Amino acid sequence: MNNLSEKKELNGRVALVTGGARGIGLAITKSLVAHGAKVVIADVGSSINGESFDPSVAESAAQEIGNNVIAYTESIADPLTAKASVELAIKKFGALDILVNNAAILRDSFIFKGKPEDFDSVIKTNLAGAWYLTNAATPNMRQHSKENRGGKPYSWGRVINITSTAGFYGNYGQSSYASAKSGMLGLMRTTAMDLLRAGITCNAIAPFAATRVTETIIPANDEQTAYKERALKILPNHVAMVVSWLCSLHGQNINGQLFGVRGREVFLFSQPRPIAKLVNNEADWNINTLNASAKKILSPHYIDLDTDLEAFNTEPNV
Ligand SMILES: NC(=O)c1ccc[n+]([C@@H]2O[C@H](COP(=O)([O-])OP(=O)(O)OC[C@H]3O[C@@H](n4cnc5c(N)ncnc54)[C@H](O)[C@@H]3O)[C@@H](O)[C@H]2O)c1
Repeated sequence: MNNLSEKKELNGRVALVTGGARGIGLAITKSLVAHGAKVVIADVGSSINGESFDPSVAESAAQEIGNNVIAYTESIADPLTAKASVELAIKKFGALDILVNNAAILRDSFIFKGKPEDFDSVIKTNLAGAWYLTNAATPNMRQHSKENRGGKPYSWGRVINITSTAGFYGNYGQSSYASAKSGMLGLMRTTAMDLLRAGITCNAIAPFAATRVTETIIPANDEQTAYKERALKILPNHVAMVVSWLCSLHGQNINGQLFGVRGREVFLFSQPRPIAKLVNNEADWNINTLNASAKKILSPHYIDLDTDLEAFNTEPNV
Protein backbone atom coordinates (compact mmCIF):
# COMPACT_ATOMS: atom_id res chain seq x y z
CA MET A 1 0.00 0.00 0.00
CA ASN A 2 1.53 3.32 -0.97
CA ASN A 3 1.13 6.64 0.83
CA LEU A 4 -1.34 7.99 -1.69
CA SER A 5 -3.78 5.08 -1.35
CA GLU A 6 -3.44 5.20 2.45
CA LYS A 7 -4.91 8.67 2.34
CA LYS A 8 -8.00 7.70 0.38
CA GLU A 9 -11.19 8.20 2.39
CA LEU A 10 -12.69 4.80 1.59
CA ASN A 11 -9.58 2.68 1.79
CA GLY A 12 -10.34 -0.79 3.11
CA ARG A 13 -14.09 -0.42 2.65
CA VAL A 14 -16.15 -2.86 0.64
CA ALA A 15 -19.25 -1.71 -1.23
CA LEU A 16 -22.07 -3.34 -3.13
CA VAL A 17 -23.79 -1.16 -5.74
CA THR A 18 -26.98 -2.51 -7.29
CA GLY A 19 -27.42 -1.40 -10.88
CA GLY A 20 -23.77 -0.35 -10.64
CA ALA A 21 -22.89 -1.04 -14.28
CA ARG A 22 -24.78 1.79 -15.95
CA GLY A 23 -25.79 5.43 -15.59
CA ILE A 24 -25.83 6.77 -12.05
CA GLY A 25 -24.83 3.40 -10.57
CA LEU A 26 -21.73 3.21 -12.75
CA ALA A 27 -20.72 6.73 -11.69
CA ILE A 28 -21.18 5.67 -8.05
CA THR A 29 -19.07 2.53 -8.57
CA LYS A 30 -16.27 4.57 -10.15
CA SER A 31 -16.34 7.20 -7.43
CA LEU A 32 -16.25 4.62 -4.60
CA VAL A 33 -13.30 2.88 -6.30
CA ALA A 34 -11.53 6.20 -6.88
CA HIS A 35 -11.88 6.86 -3.14
CA GLY A 36 -10.27 3.52 -2.29
CA ALA A 37 -13.21 1.08 -1.92
CA LYS A 38 -13.59 -2.37 -3.42
CA VAL A 39 -16.93 -2.82 -5.15
CA VAL A 40 -19.29 -5.60 -6.15
CA ILE A 41 -21.41 -4.42 -9.06
CA ALA A 42 -24.75 -6.26 -8.76
CA ASP A 43 -26.31 -5.66 -12.14
CA VAL A 44 -28.26 -7.92 -14.48
CA GLY A 45 -27.81 -5.56 -17.43
CA SER A 46 -31.54 -5.20 -17.89
CA SER A 47 -33.55 -3.24 -20.40
CA ILE A 48 -35.17 -0.13 -18.88
CA ASN A 49 -38.41 -2.06 -18.31
CA GLY A 50 -36.58 -5.05 -16.80
CA GLU A 51 -37.74 -7.50 -19.44
CA SER A 52 -34.39 -8.64 -20.84
CA PHE A 53 -31.01 -9.21 -19.17
CA ASP A 54 -27.44 -9.01 -20.46
CA PRO A 55 -24.72 -10.13 -18.02
CA SER A 56 -21.94 -8.78 -20.24
CA VAL A 57 -22.86 -5.21 -19.19
CA ALA A 58 -21.67 -5.70 -15.59
CA GLU A 59 -18.80 -7.97 -16.61
CA SER A 60 -17.39 -5.37 -19.02
CA ALA A 61 -17.85 -2.53 -16.51
CA ALA A 62 -16.00 -4.50 -13.82
CA GLN A 63 -13.20 -5.45 -16.19
CA GLU A 64 -12.81 -1.88 -17.39
CA ILE A 65 -12.61 -0.39 -13.90
CA GLY A 66 -10.06 -2.91 -12.63
CA ASN A 67 -8.96 -5.31 -9.92
CA ASN A 68 -11.00 -3.84 -7.11
CA VAL A 69 -14.32 -4.52 -8.81
CA ILE A 70 -16.22 -7.72 -9.48
CA ALA A 71 -19.52 -8.30 -11.25
CA TYR A 72 -22.52 -10.17 -9.90
CA THR A 73 -25.07 -10.70 -12.64
CA GLU A 74 -28.03 -12.38 -10.92
CA SER A 75 -31.11 -10.31 -10.11
CA ILE A 76 -31.44 -8.47 -6.81
CA ALA A 77 -35.23 -8.76 -7.13
CA ASP A 78 -35.17 -12.20 -5.51
CA PRO A 79 -34.30 -12.75 -1.83
CA LEU A 80 -31.95 -15.68 -2.50
CA THR A 81 -29.94 -14.11 -5.31
CA ALA A 82 -29.88 -10.76 -3.47
CA LYS A 83 -28.41 -12.52 -0.42
CA ALA A 84 -25.89 -14.34 -2.63
CA SER A 85 -24.53 -10.97 -3.83
CA VAL A 86 -23.80 -10.00 -0.22
CA GLU A 87 -22.15 -13.38 0.39
CA LEU A 88 -20.00 -12.87 -2.69
CA ALA A 89 -18.78 -9.49 -1.39
CA ILE A 90 -17.87 -11.06 1.96
CA LYS A 91 -16.18 -14.06 0.33
CA LYS A 92 -14.17 -12.04 -2.20
CA PHE A 93 -13.37 -8.93 -0.18
CA GLY A 94 -13.80 -10.08 3.44
CA ALA A 95 -16.69 -7.80 4.49
CA LEU A 96 -19.46 -5.50 3.39
CA ASP A 97 -19.41 -1.93 4.68
CA ILE A 98 -21.44 0.03 2.12
CA LEU A 99 -24.67 -0.84 0.36
CA VAL A 100 -26.05 1.40 -2.39
CA ASN A 101 -29.59 0.43 -3.41
CA ASN A 102 -29.69 1.95 -6.88
CA ALA A 103 -31.11 -0.66 -9.31
CA ALA A 104 -34.48 0.22 -10.76
CA ILE A 105 -36.79 -0.43 -13.67
CA LEU A 106 -39.68 1.55 -15.15
CA ARG A 107 -43.07 0.35 -16.37
CA ASP A 108 -45.07 3.53 -16.67
CA SER A 109 -48.76 3.78 -17.40
CA PHE A 110 -51.67 5.76 -16.01
CA ILE A 111 -53.14 4.20 -12.86
CA PHE A 112 -56.40 3.44 -14.72
CA LYS A 113 -54.50 1.48 -17.41
CA GLY A 114 -51.66 -0.25 -15.54
CA LYS A 115 -51.27 -4.03 -15.28
CA PRO A 116 -50.90 -5.64 -11.83
CA GLU A 117 -47.96 -7.75 -13.08
CA ASP A 118 -46.07 -4.60 -14.10
CA PHE A 119 -46.72 -3.05 -10.70
CA ASP A 120 -45.43 -6.24 -9.04
CA SER A 121 -42.22 -6.24 -11.13
CA VAL A 122 -41.46 -2.60 -10.35
CA ILE A 123 -42.07 -3.06 -6.62
CA LYS A 124 -40.01 -6.26 -6.59
CA THR A 125 -36.97 -4.66 -8.25
CA ASN A 126 -37.09 -1.10 -6.95
CA LEU A 127 -38.32 -1.63 -3.40
CA ALA A 128 -38.30 -5.29 -2.36
CA GLY A 129 -34.78 -5.69 -3.82
CA ALA A 130 -33.58 -2.85 -1.58
CA TRP A 131 -35.21 -4.51 1.45
CA TYR A 132 -33.73 -7.95 0.62
CA LEU A 133 -30.25 -6.48 0.33
CA THR A 134 -30.49 -4.30 3.42
CA ASN A 135 -31.78 -7.33 5.32
CA ALA A 136 -28.94 -9.53 4.03
CA ALA A 137 -26.14 -6.94 4.38
CA THR A 138 -26.78 -5.40 7.77
CA PRO A 139 -26.07 -8.47 9.98
CA ASN A 140 -22.51 -8.36 8.62
CA MET A 141 -22.29 -4.61 9.28
CA ARG A 142 -23.64 -5.08 12.83
CA GLN A 143 -21.05 -7.78 13.43
CA HIS A 144 -18.34 -5.32 12.37
CA SER A 145 -19.81 -2.84 14.80
CA LYS A 146 -19.43 -5.30 17.69
CA GLU A 147 -15.86 -6.04 16.62
CA ASN A 148 -14.99 -2.38 15.92
CA ARG A 149 -13.82 -3.13 12.40
CA GLY A 150 -11.87 -0.13 11.17
CA GLY A 151 -11.07 1.07 14.68
CA LYS A 152 -13.09 2.53 17.55
CA PRO A 153 -15.79 3.73 17.38
CA TYR A 154 -17.21 1.73 14.50
CA SER A 155 -17.44 4.11 11.58
CA TRP A 156 -18.07 1.94 8.54
CA GLY A 157 -21.63 0.88 7.94
CA ARG A 158 -23.52 2.85 5.30
CA VAL A 159 -26.74 2.20 3.42
CA ILE A 160 -27.79 4.62 0.69
CA ASN A 161 -31.14 4.37 -1.08
CA ILE A 162 -31.37 6.01 -4.47
CA THR A 163 -34.95 7.24 -4.60
CA SER A 164 -36.64 9.75 -6.91
CA THR A 165 -38.56 12.99 -6.63
CA ALA A 166 -41.40 10.92 -8.16
CA GLY A 167 -41.62 9.21 -4.76
CA PHE A 168 -42.63 12.40 -2.95
CA TYR A 169 -43.84 14.81 -5.67
CA GLY A 170 -45.50 12.06 -7.71
CA ASN A 171 -45.47 12.06 -11.50
CA TYR A 172 -48.04 11.46 -14.20
CA GLY A 173 -48.20 7.80 -15.23
CA GLN A 174 -45.66 6.67 -12.62
CA SER A 175 -47.85 5.13 -9.94
CA SER A 176 -45.75 1.94 -9.66
CA TYR A 177 -42.38 3.66 -9.78
CA ALA A 178 -43.51 6.41 -7.37
CA SER A 179 -44.92 3.82 -4.95
CA ALA A 180 -41.60 1.98 -4.91
CA LYS A 181 -39.54 5.16 -4.55
CA SER A 182 -41.77 6.44 -1.79
CA GLY A 183 -41.45 3.07 -0.05
CA MET A 184 -37.69 3.49 -0.13
CA LEU A 185 -38.07 6.54 2.10
CA GLY A 186 -39.92 4.56 4.78
CA LEU A 187 -37.29 1.84 4.41
CA MET A 188 -34.54 4.45 4.76
CA ARG A 189 -35.97 6.04 7.93
CA THR A 190 -36.59 2.71 9.63
CA THR A 191 -33.21 1.28 8.65
CA ALA A 192 -31.59 4.42 10.09
CA MET A 193 -33.45 3.86 13.37
CA ASP A 194 -32.88 0.10 13.60
CA LEU A 195 -29.13 0.46 13.03
CA LEU A 196 -28.50 3.65 14.96
CA ARG A 197 -27.02 1.84 17.96
CA ALA A 198 -24.64 -0.08 15.70
CA GLY A 199 -23.24 3.16 14.24
CA ILE A 200 -24.61 2.32 10.78
CA THR A 201 -26.26 5.11 8.82
CA CYS A 202 -28.94 5.08 6.15
CA ASN A 203 -29.81 8.02 3.91
CA ALA A 204 -31.62 8.57 0.63
CA ILE A 205 -30.75 10.58 -2.46
CA ALA A 206 -33.13 11.74 -5.17
CA PRO A 207 -30.86 12.19 -8.20
CA PHE A 208 -31.15 14.15 -11.41
CA ALA A 209 -28.78 12.98 -14.16
CA ALA A 210 -28.54 12.28 -17.85
CA THR A 211 -28.75 8.52 -18.38
CA ARG A 212 -30.38 6.23 -20.94
CA VAL A 213 -33.62 6.75 -19.00
CA THR A 214 -33.50 10.54 -19.41
CA GLU A 215 -32.91 10.03 -23.12
CA THR A 216 -36.19 8.12 -23.47
CA ILE A 217 -38.38 10.95 -22.12
CA ILE A 218 -40.87 11.89 -24.84
CA PRO A 219 -41.83 15.52 -24.22
CA ALA A 220 -45.54 16.29 -24.58
CA ASN A 221 -45.18 20.09 -24.57
CA ASP A 222 -42.63 22.93 -24.62
CA GLU A 223 -42.20 22.84 -20.85
CA GLN A 224 -41.28 19.15 -20.97
CA THR A 225 -38.93 19.74 -23.92
CA ALA A 226 -37.09 22.36 -21.85
CA TYR A 227 -37.03 19.96 -18.86
CA LYS A 228 -35.50 17.20 -20.96
CA GLU A 229 -32.89 19.53 -22.48
CA ARG A 230 -31.86 20.67 -19.01
CA ALA A 231 -31.78 17.08 -17.70
CA LEU A 232 -29.51 15.94 -20.51
CA LYS A 233 -26.84 18.43 -19.41
CA ILE A 234 -26.50 16.96 -15.91
CA LEU A 235 -23.70 14.43 -15.36
CA PRO A 236 -24.19 11.60 -12.82
CA ASN A 237 -20.75 12.09 -11.24
CA HIS A 238 -22.16 14.74 -8.86
CA VAL A 239 -24.59 12.19 -7.39
CA ALA A 240 -21.64 9.80 -7.05
CA MET A 241 -19.62 12.42 -5.16
CA VAL A 242 -22.42 12.88 -2.63
CA VAL A 243 -22.62 9.10 -2.17
CA SER A 244 -18.85 8.92 -1.53
CA TRP A 245 -19.10 11.83 0.91
CA LEU A 246 -21.88 10.11 2.88
CA CYS A 247 -19.80 6.90 2.91
CA SER A 248 -16.71 8.67 4.22
CA LEU A 249 -16.01 9.42 7.88
CA HIS A 250 -17.67 12.80 7.35
CA GLY A 251 -20.98 10.96 6.95
CA GLN A 252 -20.82 9.17 10.27
CA ASN A 253 -23.38 11.40 11.97
CA ILE A 254 -25.60 12.04 8.97
CA ASN A 255 -28.53 9.68 9.33
CA GLY A 256 -32.12 9.39 8.10
CA GLN A 257 -31.83 12.31 5.67
CA LEU A 258 -33.24 12.85 2.21
CA PHE A 259 -30.95 14.65 -0.20
CA GLY A 260 -31.40 15.74 -3.80
CA VAL A 261 -28.52 16.16 -6.25
CA ARG A 262 -28.91 18.07 -9.50
CA GLY A 263 -25.50 18.74 -11.01
CA ARG A 264 -23.56 20.89 -8.57
CA GLU A 265 -26.67 21.64 -6.49
CA VAL A 266 -27.18 19.49 -3.39
CA PHE A 267 -30.57 19.84 -1.71
CA LEU A 268 -31.74 18.72 1.69
CA PHE A 269 -35.44 17.89 1.45
CA SER A 270 -37.94 18.23 4.26
CA GLN A 271 -39.80 15.09 5.30
CA PRO A 272 -43.55 15.11 5.99
CA ARG A 273 -44.44 16.49 9.40
CA PRO A 274 -47.78 18.04 10.52
CA ILE A 275 -48.04 21.58 9.21
CA ALA A 276 -51.52 22.41 10.46
CA LYS A 277 -53.88 21.02 13.09
CA LEU A 278 -57.54 21.33 13.85
CA VAL A 279 -59.10 19.99 17.04
CA ASN A 280 -62.75 19.14 17.37
CA ASN A 281 -64.12 20.56 20.58
CA GLU A 282 -67.79 20.28 19.65
CA ALA A 283 -69.98 17.48 21.03
CA ASP A 284 -71.95 17.17 17.77
CA TRP A 285 -68.99 16.99 15.37
CA ASN A 286 -70.28 16.21 11.89
CA ILE A 287 -69.24 16.54 8.25
CA ASN A 288 -70.39 20.13 8.06
CA THR A 289 -68.60 21.34 11.18
CA LEU A 290 -65.48 19.42 10.11
CA ASN A 291 -65.69 21.04 6.70
CA ALA A 292 -65.95 24.52 8.19
CA SER A 293 -62.89 23.97 10.42
CA ALA A 294 -60.90 22.34 7.59
CA LYS A 295 -61.61 25.27 5.28
CA LYS A 296 -60.35 27.70 7.87
CA ILE A 297 -57.42 25.82 9.39
CA LEU A 298 -56.18 23.14 6.97
CA SER A 299 -57.02 24.36 3.47
CA PRO A 300 -54.55 27.27 3.44
CA HIS A 301 -51.82 24.61 3.77
CA TYR A 302 -52.96 22.07 1.16
CA ILE A 303 -49.97 21.03 -0.98
CA ASP A 304 -50.08 21.80 -4.72
CA LEU A 305 -50.12 18.90 -7.17
CA ASP A 306 -46.89 20.07 -8.76
CA THR A 307 -44.36 17.62 -10.17
CA ASP A 308 -40.59 18.06 -10.06
CA LEU A 309 -40.93 19.58 -13.52
CA GLU A 310 -42.54 22.68 -11.97
CA ALA A 311 -40.47 22.55 -8.79
CA PHE A 312 -37.09 22.36 -10.58
CA ASN A 313 -37.74 24.57 -13.58
CA THR A 314 -34.51 26.52 -13.29
CA GLU A 315 -31.33 26.04 -15.32
CA PRO A 316 -29.17 23.45 -13.48
CA ASN A 317 -25.69 24.36 -12.31
CA VAL A 318 -23.55 21.90 -14.22
N1 LIG B 1 -31.61 9.41 -14.26
C1 LIG B 1 -32.30 10.22 -13.47
O1 LIG B 1 -32.37 11.44 -13.68
C2 LIG B 1 -33.00 9.66 -12.26
C3 LIG B 1 -33.98 10.46 -11.65
C4 LIG B 1 -34.60 9.96 -10.52
C5 LIG B 1 -34.22 8.74 -9.98
N2 LIG B 1 -33.28 7.99 -10.61
C6 LIG B 1 -32.90 6.70 -10.00
O2 LIG B 1 -31.50 6.52 -10.08
C7 LIG B 1 -31.19 5.12 -10.19
C8 LIG B 1 -30.32 4.87 -11.42
O3 LIG B 1 -31.03 5.32 -12.56
P1 LIG B 1 -30.37 5.37 -14.01
O4 LIG B 1 -31.03 6.48 -14.71
O5 LIG B 1 -28.91 5.30 -13.90
O6 LIG B 1 -30.98 4.00 -14.60
P2 LIG B 1 -30.37 2.91 -15.63
O7 LIG B 1 -31.54 2.20 -16.22
O8 LIG B 1 -29.40 3.55 -16.55
O9 LIG B 1 -29.59 1.92 -14.66
C9 LIG B 1 -30.25 1.06 -13.80
C10 LIG B 1 -29.42 -0.20 -13.66
O10 LIG B 1 -30.13 -1.12 -12.79
C11 LIG B 1 -29.94 -2.42 -13.29
N3 LIG B 1 -31.00 -3.33 -12.83
C12 LIG B 1 -32.32 -3.28 -13.15
N4 LIG B 1 -32.96 -4.32 -12.59
C13 LIG B 1 -32.04 -5.04 -11.90
C14 LIG B 1 -32.09 -6.23 -11.12
N5 LIG B 1 -33.23 -6.89 -10.93
N6 LIG B 1 -30.95 -6.68 -10.54
C15 LIG B 1 -29.78 -6.02 -10.72
N7 LIG B 1 -29.67 -4.90 -11.48
C16 LIG B 1 -30.78 -4.41 -12.05
C17 LIG B 1 -29.98 -2.24 -14.81
O11 LIG B 1 -29.37 -3.34 -15.49
C18 LIG B 1 -29.23 -0.94 -15.00
O12 LIG B 1 -27.86 -1.14 -15.29
C19 LIG B 1 -32.54 4.41 -10.25
O13 LIG B 1 -32.88 3.99 -8.95
C20 LIG B 1 -33.49 5.50 -10.71
O14 LIG B 1 -34.81 5.25 -10.33
C21 LIG B 1 -32.67 8.42 -11.75
